[in-house]
Amino acid sequence: MKALVTGGEGGLGRAIRTRLEAEGYEVESLDLVNGFDVTSPAAWAEVGPADVACLNAGVLTGELSYDNYRRAVSVNVDGVVLEGSIVATASLAGLTGMPSDPVYSLTKHAVVGFVRSMAPHLEPVRLNAVCPGLADTPMVDGEREALEAAGFPLLAPADVADAVWRAATSGRSGECWFVQPGREPAPFRFPNLPGPRVDGEKVGAPPG
Ligand SMILES: NC(=O)c1ccc[n+]([C@@H]2O[C@H](COP(=O)([O-])OP(=O)(O)OC[C@H]3O[C@@H](n4cnc5c(N)ncnc54)[C@H](O)[C@@H]3O)[C@@H](O)[C@H]2O)c1
Repeated sequence: MKALVTGGEGGLGRAIRTRLEAEGYEVESLDLVNGFDVTSPAAWAEVGPADVACLNAGVLTGELSYDNYRRAVSVNVDGVVLEGSIVATASLAGLTGMPSDPVYSLTKHAVVGFVRSMAPHLEPVRLNAVCPGLADTPMVDGEREALEAAGFPLLAPADVADAVWRAATSGRSGECWFVQPGREPAPFRFPNLPGPRVDGEKVGAPPG
């Protein structure tokens, strides 16, 4: 069985690869550092089929400039949409606001919205997301000292990899699993949206 992991050379990517290898998969790592750019349609055209695809590459925005905005949207959103396969790494920043990086939060909300909307179209292929809180990888290097000083717990990458595996093998689709230190990962239960009413009566979902 074959698996691929984008961002496979990063902190979470390595842990996901290790977990998939332990489950018996032959794992291909697709990462900028080994020449694969998830934003390139031409690069995706060269990728063969896989039984499990973990769409995990992602970047923070950094200083808010137009180029950094385009880069974050391109890596965090296009990198998921172009392949459209099994487990995408979103973030808790896709379930709640993240004032320290609004563009990052925008891209992760986009991934959550895409997974929930696209999943029904892909059946029987399953499409899910994991939404980790802060994890101990190079991505949090800039805040690590402050987090440690505040006693804030970080997720171990292996715990995120475990949630990826659970999401990939749950048999369900369209779910966004939260991952937080000290809690069992589970699908996030989105609150019910207030639906429209006509003359005070509830109306069902729109056609189509
Ligand atoms: N670390 C956290 O606290 C945290 C929390 C929630 C979600 N996430 C998400 O988890 C995923 C993995 O993050 P991480 O913590 O391992 O970060 P990381 O910085 O350790 O690894 C990210 C990897 O993505 C690769 N990458 C960047 N741009 C790429 C591109 N265009 N094409 C291919 N590869 C590219 C990098 O080379 C790097 O190896 C990201 O989507 C991130 O947004 C991380």
